[in-house]
Amino acid sequence: MCGVIGYVGSKPCARLIFDGLKRLEYRGYDSAGIAVLDTENGPAKIELVKAEGKLIHLEPHLGELPQKATMGMGHTRWATHGAPTARNAHPHLHGDLVIIHNGIIENYRELKEQLMKSGVEFKSDTDTEVVLHQLHAELDRTKDLKAAIMATVKHLRGAYALGIIYAREPGQMYVVKQGSPVVLGAGDGENFFGSDALALLPHTNRAVFLMDGEFARLTADKIEVWDFSGQPLRREPAVLNWSAASADKQGYKHYMLKEIHEQPAVMSSMMSRLLDLKANGFVEKETGLDALDLGRIKNVAIVACGTAHYAGQIGRYMIEEFTRLPANVELASEFRYRNPCIDSSTLVIAVSQSGETADTLACVKHAAAQGCQVMSICNVRFSSIPRASQAVLYMEAGPEVGVASTKAFTAMVLSFYIVALAMGVKRGKVDPGRLEKSFDAMRRLPALVDRAVNAAGVIEEIAHKIYEAQNMLFIGRGPSFPVATEGALKLKEVSYIHAEGYAGGELKHGPIALVDRHMPVVSIAPRDSTYEKMISNIEEVRARQGRIIGVGDIGDERFQSICEHYIPCPQVGDDHLQAILSVIPLQLLAYYAADMRGTDVDQPRNLAKSVTVE
Ligand code: F6R
Repeated sequence: MCGVIGYVGSKPCARLIFDGLKRLEYRGYDSAGIAVLDTENGPAKIELVKAEGKLIHLEPHLGELPQKATMGMGHTRWATHGAPTARNAHPHLHGDLVIIHNGIIENYRELKEQLMKSGVEFKSDTDTEVVLHQLHAELDRTKDLKAAIMATVKHLRGAYALGIIYAREPGQMYVVKQGSPVVLGAGDGENFFGSDALALLPHTNRAVFLMDGEFARLTADKIEVWDFSGQPLRREPAVLNWSAASADKQGYKHYMLKEIHEQPAVMSSMMSRLLDLKANGFVEKETGLDALDLGRIKNVAIVACGTAHYAGQIGRYMIEEFTRLPANVELASEFRYRNPCIDSSTLVIAVSQSGETADTLACVKHAAAQGCQVMSICNVRFSSIPRASQAVLYMEAGPEVGVASTKAFTAMVLSFYIVALAMGVKRGKVDPGRLEKSFDAMRRLPALVDRAVNAAGVIEEIAHKIYEAQNMLFIGRGPSFPVATEGALKLKEVSYIHAEGYAGGELKHGPIALVDRHMPVVSIAPRDSTYEKMISNIEEVRARQGRIIGVGDIGDERFQSICEHYIPCPQVGDDHLQAILSVIPLQLLAYYAADMRGTDVDQPRNLAKSVTVE
């Protein structure tokens, strides 16, 4: 959601903080602000600038900040409480105290009432401002910022990553973590904090990960960490293996397009890390399976949100196919609020690109408390979900900056394939012939993914035909059903065309009423076991004059002959892995349609990349 960044060192920091915010803007872009500590002109004083909307609106104000300041922090906001206006933008300042916040203070109403009764006047509609005033009140009492922080957190309920500067204690800033992500960056004579490591990468690859219930004091030379009771903690920096360049656009018009094109490389690097391709084996340590007691597992529950949830649906099919264990997949935001039948025989698999999604993280904690074994499939190393899991498979797909997830989806599908196959082998449910066939398919995959992304020209032409549509349907059966829902999600989030994905067999139970000669229906029908039924479903749409855009096998003339437009996909020879090849044209279709409509492809309205509030 919101992005936070802070710097203390010897360099002029206003521009440095602004550049860091640019790397975090995908987390929120409703408003932004920067506060720095001016120590040049008399007693230390906090100066700040704020602007409504995206960061470009803040840039002209950078010159208003003291240019020699060497300590400060910035914030880019995804509004939760209070409209996205400059008034509600962070940082929030009161006297000598300034704070930024990512998260939600759930009990802010009652705290606000108490504070107002004691005479505090609020300047914004945010939940964050209660933290500022509570902290200020504690500071009045304790006269010491560290003690005031420890007293304040006792009052707060909810999630927060806070950055705090107090002008009367210059040269140091505090970072507090409970429930929202924040990373500390250890530099040479300078230290940083940020919502994620991406913002810190140009400066340092040494990161200290705070845990919930911990806070830190950063000076130019030192990082000190305590728990909320004031107990000092030792934290050695971890070395990150992402480069700053991997988070750049590298000549592509948008991150989304760059990330679509990275998929062949992601597939092959995942396979060389997770598999022994020569021996048709698995690198157990990398797959995370060595950390599980596989004999105990009697059922599998997959939890995730959004795109990761659709990947989980394909994962469910794979787990059932290869392991013969009953598997369910559920939206994390639903799973955690009912009373699911899970126990020590359940393997819960949490899927998340960011590793920070609040609902998915809550499921992980809940499942662990129920005695389940918890495995996560994540992209961002050291993020909260893998840290709370017993076993982890890291996808290592590199930073995904475009808000619409693309390479993470295909990486999740491949991860599930590998995990399901490996578990199936261990359980004796995959015979050698099947294993050989699966490895052959995987070996073919990167080259075929490369062909699929390089067919962009055909898809751009089709996008020209449909980009003015108001509504679209996506249909598929078997693994192509989640592909259809993912294709619809991609299209609606980046192009704002209303789109829905349905199981092909479900159309006649309602949605077919929407079909007329204006309705494009993207129909995904590789020649798998559901092919004949899908062709019948497509004919039903055609009979109602729906405009069929087919996604099917290269050379499938029968399917092609009933389509208005046809996207031929290379065949990998495995029904489940084929989902990876079918989704790529849908990612490209969404991308080109959005670009033609002139939307902000990488930062679609109302969305944030990392959803760290519930
Ligand atoms: C859609 C998209 C979102 C995310 C969802 C979960 O393109 O990116 O639907 O998939 O917010 O995010 P992660 O995978 O970070 O848990």
